[in-house]
Amino acid sequence: MDRFVIEGPCPLEGTLQVSGAKNAVLPLMAATLLSRGVSKIHRVPSLRDTRTMARVLETLGAKVQMDADTMVVDTTDAKGIEAPYDLVKTMRASIYVLGPLLAHHHEAKVSLPGGCAWGPRPVDLHLKGMEALGGQIDLEGGYILAKTSGLTGAHIHFEISSVGATANVLMAAVLAKGHTVLENAAREPECTQLAVALKDAGAKISGIGTTRLEIDGVDELGPLDVTVIPDRIEAGTFLAAAAATRSKLTVENVLQEDMGATIDCLESTGCSFQWGDRSVVVDGTRAHDPINAVTRPFPGFATDMQAQTMVVACCMDGISVITDTIYPDRFTHVAELRRLGADIRLDGNSAVIHGVDSLKGAPVMATDLRASAALILAGMVAHGSTLIDRVYHIDRGYEGIEKKLQAVGASIERVAGPPTP
Ligand code: EPZ
Repeated sequence: MDRFVIEGPCPLEGTLQVSGAKNAVLPLMAATLLSRGVSKIHRVPSLRDTRTMARVLETLGAKVQMDADTMVVDTTDAKGIEAPYDLVKTMRASIYVLGPLLAHHHEAKVSLPGGCAWGPRPVDLHLKGMEALGGQIDLEGGYILAKTSGLTGAHIHFEISSVGATANVLMAAVLAKGHTVLENAAREPECTQLAVALKDAGAKISGIGTTRLEIDGVDELGPLDVTVIPDRIEAGTFLAAAAATRSKLTVENVLQEDMGATIDCLESTGCSFQWGDRSVVVDGTRAHDPINAVTRPFPGFATDMQAQTMVVACCMDGISVITDTIYPDRFTHVAELRRLGADIRLDGNSAVIHGVDSLKGAPVMATDLRASAALILAGMVAHGSTLIDRVYHIDRGYEGIEKKLQAVGASIERVAGPPTP
């Protein structure tokens, strides 16, 4: 298993390019199963998760090829209906094929995703939505068995704002006969992009970008042709890096309208921002004040920015409080940050962080995707060597992160680790 070795502290300077959004491309890939034909998805990042989703599609009979950063998915002969455990266990988002398979093939056998590093990740809202649309759902041997004689529209109210359930049920509803209303739908930019792409392929959807989506089912959908939006979490990670290392950076391929809560949070520390067209100059040289952040569904502060922001808080003066209302247990990075000298106390789903004068390099272990990103930021701030184990987590969601950071002055090297125990 690869490791990262980081020599800190690393002041950063220069320009960072943001890749296409992992959490947008995964549902778009699943949505290709709604039609028979050749779909094209442009600006696809090269990630473990996109490669895993490609394997899921190929297991279902699709042909997936990359042409530069365009993914070409031919679903003409995609007749499979089973997403196997050995793939789903490595990536929860595989469950996104459930809606398209049920809608298009009237049948699906999808492994239940397991939990993740920080706790259970239920899928009850996905299943309730499919049942509301006329799917018959059974759970057997760790698999979701779904069948229907044909989906029909329904009025569905999600009791929790769920990105995955919104995307999955939306994909099922576009081919369901009749009218569907989705209340309390997630409106993360990645969900909005999916809805727009489905509409461009012939779906009838209104209320896009709001928490109430209305869909009139169509008999069939054309192939997708879509360009993936920038990854707002990768962009936010780079902005946090500037604040933590007190650097000035240019970040390119970023949409201001997707970054509001992250910008507000970092501005509260004393960072300043100058926006261009799809780019921003962040000045973190005067970052100083503590943070008070609470994660919320979009447009609120993203839970996927919680760990990275905690590293910024470790480096600020005074006491910061970061609360995660989406995933109350998403704090596996805290113990690792403490090994670097951070002063963090957990109180329920809140972390209380006392800023320290400096962090000290040490060996640490990545536990999940965003925790890994946090440890990289911390390694760039800490004095001395930081060794991050299990960086396969970071390769799931950040395209070539060490090369991007090396280009702006970070001393970060990928080294081969001992074989997997
Ligand atoms: C998506 O996960 C993202 N993953 C996550 O990003 C992100 O943290 C999360 O949304 C929240 O923004 C992808 O897009 C691939 P949810 P998802 O359904 O869809 C509860 C990353 O780092 N819930 O919006 O699984 C759930 O437990 C990843 O890129 C149910 O109770 O999240 C949570 O408390 C990590 N039942 C809340 O809803 C359900 O059926 C929001 O989860 C589904 C969710």
